[in-house]
Amino acid sequence: MASRTFDFTDRIAKGIPSPPKAGSAGGRVKYDFTTAFPDPDSFPADGLLEALGQALKAEGKDLVYYPHPQGHPVMREFLAEKLARERGMKVSPDQIILTTGSGQAVARYVELLTDPGDTILLEKFSYSGTMGIMRRHGAKLVGMEMDSEGILPEALDETLNDLEAKGVRAKFIYTIPTFQNPTGADMGLQRRQDVLAVSQKHGVPIFEDDCYADLRFAGESLPAIQSLDDEGSVLYCGSFSKIVAPGMRLGFMAAPQPVIESVKAIHLGATPSQFSVLATLYYLRDHLDEHVQELRDIFRAKKDTAVAAVGEHMGSRVECSNPDGGLYLWVKLPEGANTAAVLSKARERQMGYGPGTNFSPGQDAYNYLRLCYGHLTHETIREGIARIARFFEEEGLLK
Ligand SMILES: Cc1ncc(COP(=O)(O)O)c(C=O)c1O
Repeated sequence: MASRTFDFTDRIAKGIPSPPKAGSAGGRVKYDFTTAFPDPDSFPADGLLEALGQALKAEGKDLVYYPHPQGHPVMREFLAEKLARERGMKVSPDQIILTTGSGQAVARYVELLTDPGDTILLEKFSYSGTMGIMRRHGAKLVGMEMDSEGILPEALDETLNDLEAKGVRAKFIYTIPTFQNPTGADMGLQRRQDVLAVSQKHGVPIFEDDCYADLRFAGESLPAIQSLDDEGSVLYCGSFSKIVAPGMRLGFMAAPQPVIESVKAIHLGATPSQFSVLATLYYLRDHLDEHVQELRDIFRAKKDTAVAAVGEHMGSRVECSNPDGGLYLWVKLPEGANTAAVLSKARERQMGYGPGTNFSPGQDAYNYLRLCYGHLTHETIREGIARIARFFEEEGLLK
């Protein structure tokens, strides 16, 4: 056999992003605040194993068939009921498609809706994964001004007016209304109604990414924007990553029937593993409320520890969010700081965080960082934040 290596460089399709630079992601480090992993000790391994055993006894033989193209029908019934009860949504199981996490749901919606050159509106700071997918489809991203309740309706209206004056019809609005990634912003009811009203006035649909809705540890639960919509103009997705584990790779999309039919055309053969679906379904059918309550208690306590540590070690030199749910703190350092520029060095010293540039449509939020506290112990959170603060001082980011 010849030992030459075929060079695929000129065969790789245009639009495939270059591989990540060394140091930007890489392996895990000791004080790793980079990614929103949940708490490892809360992972219900025994419960899932027992649930999978029960499920395989009851319906294991069905695994010789390919799953339903929209995913396991009983799981979709479970979801339709959960969404009605907890998010005020009226969707039938036929309007749901199971996906391998909400990341795949995001990819499907973006693929379905985006032509190169399209304009998409989103929060001024947003989820890096979604923005990466949008960029790959050639979209222009326009960030909306926001506050602790998310997108400002006036800013949305003004931007849509400006675009219309230039003959541009925005394709859709992407929003994470509940415990927004990365800011933790939580859209109040009035704000949800106002944002929806502006979108309807301009005839621009909303894509609501609600993957943190289960993780509320303070304040009252708010209905999904989708539930307030009477025009069928809101597309929705959610995830089991945050309440079971990302390793399960399980999420879903919920949308009006014609959209679901179009998604089915691009989702062929892509339904999640029945093992994951069955274990999750049989486990959550019996344990949903107690398990989610346990997670909320864990994350509330860790968030308090993280907020206290930022206060102690960075103090009034920074502005730090204090969200009522979710898995992140969003920290603003003084102007002139550049958290991306020192990330490789931080990782060499076993510290990881999300640099602000990852979360801004213009990739320019240099003086921000996102800290995920979900999977670290209280001690590691305290020690890690103290180390990051010291490191920023040494590097001149915090004076
Ligand atoms: C807003 C948002 N959407 C989607 C995802 C993708 O998550 P998953 O595919 O694990 O459900 C994430 C992950 O953190 C996220 O923050």
